[in-house]
Amino acid sequence: MANKKTRAAKYADMRQEETFQHSIVQTVRYLSKYMHGYWKDTIITWCAVLVESICEVLVVYFMQDLINSVQNLGTTTTMNSVYLYAGIMAACALVAVGAGILAGIFAASASAGFGKNLREAMFIHIQDYSFRNIDKFSTSSIVTRTTTDVTNVQNAVLMIIRAVVRAPFLMIISLIMCFITDWKLAWIFLIIIPIVLFALLGLAKVVHPYFVKVFNTYDDLNESVEENVDGIRVVKSFNREEDQIRHFNGVSDLIYRCFFHAESIINFNSPVMQGAVYTAELLIAYFASYQIVGHHRVSYDGSAMNVGKLSTLITYVMLIMMSLMLISMVYTMIIIGRNSSERIVEILEEKPEIVSPANPIREVPNGEVDFEDVSYAYVQGKPVLNHINVKVPSGATIGILGSTGSSKTTLVSLIARLYDVTEGKVLVGGHDVRDYDLRVLRDAVAVVLQKNTLFTGTIRDNLKWGNANATDEEIMKACDVAQVTPFLKDMPDGLDTKISQGGTNVSGGQKQRLCIARALLKNPKILILDDSTSACDTHTDALIREGLQHERTDVTKFIIAQRVLSVKDCDEIWVMNEGKIVNRGNSETLLETSQVYRELYESQLGGGDFDASK
Ligand SMILES: Nc1ncnc2c1ncn2[C@@H]1O[C@H](COP(=O)(O)OP(=O)(O)OP(=O)(O)O)[C@@H](O)[C@H]1O
Ligand SMILES: [Mg+2]
Repeated sequence: MANKKTRAAKYADMRQEETFQHSIVQTVRYLSKYMHGYWKDTIITWCAVLVESICEVLVVYFMQDLINSVQNLGTTTTMNSVYLYAGIMAACALVAVGAGILAGIFAASASAGFGKNLREAMFIHIQDYSFRNIDKFSTSSIVTRTTTDVTNVQNAVLMIIRAVVRAPFLMIISLIMCFITDWKLAWIFLIIIPIVLFALLGLAKVVHPYFVKVFNTYDDLNESVEENVDGIRVVKSFNREEDQIRHFNGVSDLIYRCFFHAESIINFNSPVMQGAVYTAELLIAYFASYQIVGHHRVSYDGSAMNVGKLSTLITYVMLIMMSLMLISMVYTMIIIGRNSSERIVEILEEKPEIVSPANPIREVPNGEVDFEDVSYAYVQGKPVLNHINVKVPSGATIGILGSTGSSKTTLVSLIARLYDVTEGKVLVGGHDVRDYDLRVLRDAVAVVLQKNTLFTGTIRDNLKWGNANATDEEIMKACDVAQVTPFLKDMPDGLDTKISQGGTNVSGGQKQRLCIARALLKNPKILILDDSTSACDTHTDALIREGLQHERTDVTKFIIAQRVLSVKDCDEIWVMNEGKIVNRGNSETLLETSQVYRELYESQLGGGDFDASK
């Protein structure tokens, strides 16, 4: 936990260091911070690449001496000098190979480490997101960004780390060597290199929008798969497989077309490069051969152009073009990685809407809840809660009824700060919820959400989410109250029974009961049950209510329900309509004052009361 906290704090500091602006340089600078812990590997890679590049240049450099030695054998040179140059070249080649392997290993470690840091930072940051933050990106987009996008950037980094030293070094050294070898022929490069660079940059500009589209479409693709797999039971029961396949194919096809266009454009890199190589080689061969044959002039160092020099120059052409190729590949990776990087930065830069204040209150004194002129709007200007004023004493049990969409869930969500009020304030234990440390507040307020989730693991693991240190005795006590015990006996391994992903191997009612037990284990001061027994039979529902009544007398309870029976015995019942509490009172009062309640009561209980617990 401490480890997680320090890492979270570290990542938070890194984010706050600067305000992000969308430029490629800013993106690179911003993301380079996530190389922490792997700079050593990066620097070793750079050193190894430098050695590799120097050796490569040396091999070429000594080639002209070797060729000239062979050519002049028996006249000005002996076999000894041939062996010497061949030996030097072989040694350089060996060192280059070794350094290349070393660079590969360390570059892999650095880029994989960078990816790990980035994923971790994103995941930790997402934990602080409010529901509203999540709504903004959509779940599938967050998944794509933390997986596919990070992998793209990681691959780009792997390539860039090696090329960022190698390409400019090879280019500059080769150019210098060309000038040394024959400066009057080296001008050819000064014309060709800018033309090639210009062409490559132009291609990159054309291709960029396609990649932007590809990665945004990935979100749709993931959404399609996620929704389908998540809702596979509904898909099957409605026979919608073909519809789903059609939708998936549509999105997949769009990605295919975008990729095809992008890759087709990128493929022009190759002819541009080859065109440049051949042009440079031809020009050099033409001018050099002319000189060799005609002995027209001497080169820079005073010696005449010869075959050794010509072949060296041609090899330098290859080296220069290789470095240009590397630059173009890096540039392609940057284009592909750029969009992914920006999408990652958006996640990291998203400000969590709900955070603890600077000097938070660290204790919730009691379960009193006070809504003071509370309004809330999901969409600006369209409030779904309107000026709610109501006070609930600590330990009271409140029942909430109302048509669907009357904002029952929204109202109770404000107590645990799942959303923050748009107007007014919510007080818990006499303090504004925004003044509490968020952890403290959420520990004191247990919410059993309408759409609840169990996680992969055993039943015990899931229940311990409520209290990591809970003993088996405490767990069983919560299970008794939540009516988990009756079905737990039938589970193959009791508390150690495995829950599959999403809790698909337990029934709807069993899942609800497990979620209630999990909430009870938190020992909260406020317990919110949002339609949490809707899938339970009325008998079980009554037993749960009875258990709560007797076992948790000091806990303030909010029970949202569709059944009148579930709230009938509450200290107070609120009837909600269109974001307002339209009637309040106990069951008897409401039978007289609220037409809605009376109608619900009569339709559900048939005018006569009955004891469902029997
Ligand atoms: N995340 C959201 N974004 C935008 N609007 C939302 C969101 N959640 C709920 N709403 C809207 O807010 C209003 C109140 O929703 P809420 O879920 O609070 O109703 P409810 O009374 O709990 O309904 P139900 O009985 O069906 O659970 C509805 O009009 C709904 O469409
Ligand atoms: Mg609801």
